Amino acid sequence: MQRWQDQLDALDQRGMRRQLRRIDGSQGTHVTYDGRDLLLLCSNNYLGIADHPALVEAAVVATRTYGVGSGASRLVSGSMAPHHVLEERLAAFKGTEAALLFNSGYAANTGILQGLLGPEDLIFSDALNHASIIDGCRLSGAKTLVYPHGDMEVLREMLAREQVRRKPGHWLIVTDGVFSMDGDMAPLDALCAIKEEYDALLMVDDAHGTGVLGPTGRGSAEQSGCMARVDLHMGTLGKGLGCAGAYLAAPRVVIETLVNFSRSFIFSTSLPPAVPAAALAAIELVDSAEGAVLRHQLVENRTLFTAALASGGLDMLGSCTQIVPILTHEPVPTMRMTERLLERGLFLQGIRPPTVPEGFCRLRATVMASHSPEELRRAAAEIVSVFQEENR
Ligand SMILES: Cc1ncc(COP(=O)(O)O)c(C=O)c1O
Repeated sequence: MQRWQDQLDALDQRGMRRQLRRIDGSQGTHVTYDGRDLLLLCSNNYLGIADHPALVEAAVVATRTYGVGSGASRLVSGSMAPHHVLEERLAAFKGTEAALLFNSGYAANTGILQGLLGPEDLIFSDALNHASIIDGCRLSGAKTLVYPHGDMEVLREMLAREQVRRKPGHWLIVTDGVFSMDGDMAPLDALCAIKEEYDALLMVDDAHGTGVLGPTGRGSAEQSGCMARVDLHMGTLGKGLGCAGAYLAAPRVVIETLVNFSRSFIFSTSLPPAVPAAALAAIELVDSAEGAVLRHQLVENRTLFTAALASGGLDMLGSCTQIVPILTHEPVPTMRMTERLLERGLFLQGIRPPTVPEGFCRLRATVMASHSPEELRRAAAEIVSVFQEENR
């Protein structure tokens, strides 16, 4: 016990201790924290549909019909209908033969990489990929080569070097579609060209693009014009789609392999039936005229917000999506700014290592379609003001 207390104290001293903030209310644009009304500017509920009546109703109906719990792993006590209906819809949504649900994006990435790859295989992974991909690479036992973030020249050199001594086994390039902490996008077109040249597979984690990016919300691959060239489409249901869980859309043989070998799929009780039912409603919403309006609103909101921050001279790294990082560098000032913003009615989370590299702490703002222009204008003005106070 003492060792753990010492570890926590050491984190405290460096401004690195993480703490849960208990809020009341749904993941809407406003939450109540410590008795105060705050503008929520750090939720991944990008389309603002986590409490949409259609999703809530679908979850309620499914709960009445199927009960709350799913009973066991789907391989043990029967695989419930809502999970299958959603998988079929997800495969059609992504244009693949099949799809498989996982309990979370973390479970998906670890389970996909572990289930498909082994020591005879080779993974090429972007340096800023999500922690769940890093852990999945480790669990797979495959040799993993990390290429500098988005650097296609170095990636190509790595593949060329490995090609000389190529042995049998799969080569997999894995990347976030939208990088969760920087808000920039992977160069999917270039990645497709490289993987085709070297007969590798490409896996895209579209946790932050699904439902949001591309003309019809199919995600970053649609936005980049390469839906059919991506081999493994991973995505989450808990961000843009406002629910929970995750999926892989892929060729049927991949899905069947995961059903047989993916430990996070096999050895875990599946999602409650209300979740796939609500996620199905979310996809119908994404495909509706309302979905198109929400995506349009999100782009407008992001444009307004980033223009206001840019005019205040803030560094937003390479963000080109609804994830807007504001570089603050060190942990202590980052958390001081988070606290000051809370005092001014804004909930904007400070992000520190190990989530981001040392020296790259940031405030990670996320824009929602449901924010009003006035809320975003005020938020940007407060952020610029707090930033200027801190750097005076
Ligand atoms: C790129 C990326 N992949 C996977 C995940 C994990 O998804 P989940 O929160 O559903 O576990 C996240 C979560 O933030 C993410 O940003």
